This record gives sequence, C-alpha cells and structure tokens, in this order.
Amino acid sequence: MLDKWGRSIDYLRVSLTNKCNMRCLYCRPASGDKTVLQTAKPEELLYLLSIFIEAGIKKIRLTGGEPLLFPGIIDFIKHIAILPKLEKIAMTTNGILLQQYSESLIKSGLGSINVSIDALTPSVFAAITRGADINKVIAGINSVCKYIPVKVNSVIIKGLNEQEIIPLVDFSREYNIAVRFIELMPFSQTKTYEGISEAQIKAVISSKYGKLYAEKDDASTAHYYSFADKRGKVGFISAMSHKFCSSCNRIRLMADGSLRPCLYSDAEYNLKDMLEKNYPREKIAAAVKEIIYEKPAQHAMQKKIFFNVKHKFMSEIGG
Ligand code: GTP
Ligand code: 5AD
Ligand code: SF4
Repeated sequence: MLDKWGRSIDYLRVSLTNKCNMRCLYCRPASGDKTVLQTAKPEELLYLLSIFIEAGIKKIRLTGGEPLLFPGIIDFIKHIAILPKLEKIAMTTNGILLQQYSESLIKSGLGSINVSIDALTPSVFAAITRGADINKVIAGINSVCKYIPVKVNSVIIKGLNEQEIIPLVDFSREYNIAVRFIELMPFSQTKTYEGISEAQIKAVISSKYGKLYAEKDDASTAHYYSFADKRGKVGFISAMSHKFCSSCNRIRLMADGSLRPCLYSDAEYNLKDMLEKNYPREKIAAAVKEIIYEKPAQHAMQKKIFFNVKHKFMSEIGG
C-alpha cells in the first residue's frame, strides 16, 4: 500500500527477539541491557503477519537480536512460507547457529539470508563481537550458500577493522556473493566509534581491484558495484551520506510487539496490546494501514547526534 508520500510499502522487518548470542561493541553494551523481550506467541504473530500481508506486505525479513534464537524458528518459518500472497521470506543473522540449522532452514521455505561479518581475522572478529568464533560463521555460510542466496553485511569502524576491508572483498570474490559495507548509524552504543566513509572504503578497494562498475539501482538500501571480471560484488548501505528514505519500502515489527514505521524515529504503535485487548481483526488492520500511511518521510540521523529514546539498541529494533 502507499504511504502519504507515495512510497509503496511492501516489506516488513520482524525482530523476533532482542536476545543475541553476541554482543557487538557498537550494538549492545557489555552487560546490563534490558531483559529478553518476547513478542506475541508464534500463532499470534502469524495472525498479525496475515494482517500485514492483507495490507500489501510482500516480503518479510526475520531479524533480531538473533532470529535463530527464537523458540520454534523452523516451524515458524514454515508457517510463514505458506501464508498466501507472500512473495519472499528472508533472514538477517549473525550466522553462529547457521550450520546447526542449515538442513532445516534449506527445507523451510526461507528465500535468502544476510549474515553479519565485520572481520575475517579471528582475533578481530572476537574483539568486535566480544568473544564469538568467526570459523562457526564461515562454516554456517558454507553449509547454506549452495542452496540459499547469501549476502554479507559489514560495518567498518576506525581503529577496529579497517584492515578487514580487502579480506572481506576477497571473500566476496571467492564465494561470488555480495558484501555490503554499512555506514555506522548513530545509535547510543556507537558514541565512542567513528565509521569509515563509503568514499574511503571505495578507495581502499580500488587500490587493489581497480575500477568499480556501478550496477543499476534496484531501490534497495544498498547500491552495488561489480569488478571487471564480474566475480563478487560490493554494496554500500549509507543511510546518511546516500540517504535512501525517498525510496523506502519498509516498516518494522519489533521484539516487544510494537510497530515502528521508521528505523530512526520515535513513533511506535503497540500491536501486541491490541491483540491482548482482543481487538477485532478489522480494527487492527485499520490501525496498521493508518500507521503505514503516516510513515515519516525520512529519518533524522545526524553524525554526532545519537539515538537515545525508548528503544536504544539496534538489537531491539532489528535494524
Ligand atoms: P536486503 O533485503 O537483502 O536488501 O536487506 P536489507 O538491507 O533490507 O536488510 P539487512 O537486515 O541486511 O540490513 C542491512 C543494514 O541496513 C542494517 O544495518 C540495517 O539496519 C539497515 N537498514 C535496513 N533497513 C533500513 C532502513 O529502512 N533505514 C535505514 N537507515 N537502514 C536500514
Ligand atoms: N549502524 C549500522 N549498522 C548497524 N548494525 C547494528 N548496529 C548498527 C549501527 N549502529 C548492523 C549489524 C548487522 C545489521 C543487521 O545491522 O552489523 O549487520
Ligand atoms: Fe551484533 Fe547483530 Fe547481535 Fe547486534 S544484534 S550484537 S549487531 S549480531
């Protein structure tokens, strides 16, 4: 359906839990963040999803926290996969449990997987994630990438992982999958970090690989470049320096059951509460349509002003 700015909103990101088996430095504090939020039960969530699909949602991405920690995740995906009129189900995961779930994920109906990897050097990866093992993530990618399309997401931070840019691009070329460099967005945990700009990352890549060839834009968050030999691909998700709000097609249901029409805006609407109050389906559907219609035109991110409102952590909003 169209929002009041004329954008077609057909992509729902669903953060299934704020629980995560990593604690990336720029995403979560070392300790003391809120206890685990659990949305409605799977059957209630499926009911909500059917309302979203009726309102025009065609793609659902499961996020978190870590979505593979959601109890009964495989059955849940299978149920989503059979919802009429839904065209795509995707997942964004940190990949630690990917190998463990690979066989059942491949059979579940999941259409694509984005895996977050900020470093390939084991010690750097462990430092950023506060202790996780990159080899598990690579094993996870190996176990699914022949069957399900995979992309890699990386956030590059000054003094932390700049030296990982080339290894990540080499990885993209070796596996022939896209690696997307995400501009660091100013959330509360990022205060002490400085991102590396898209231009700087491109310069590093070109110093080894020469000219980057811009690909046609498909109105996603990322814009892509390929190499002369067409192996691998790099993308850039630069929410501030290359703002993509004018073509935004998404809304997000968060781990506490509220609907947030923009990643970086305060407005939230509690759908779980409506379910608990036994609102009739039409009333919830009307609320969803109105929330979509009223989606803000754009985010208000600024480099040195940090998001610090009701939901402070990216792991709660789901990216
Ligand atoms: P594709 O559907 O494969 O294009 O993935 P995606 O980019 O929609 O999702 P993913 O979960 O892989 O997110 C990659 C990065 O994009 C994360 O850092 C997200 O926080 C960010 N992102 C996703 N949607 C939005 C958005 O609407 N606005 C902004 N500013 N960032 C977003
Ligand atoms: N800025 C940009 N990307 C972020 N992510 C988490 N926090 C931030 C931030 N502040 C990324 C993760 C993961 C994706 C879902 O969101 O690295 O790849
Ligand atoms: Fe890291 Fe994602 Fe977990 Fe945040 S939610 S700690 S970015 S793996």
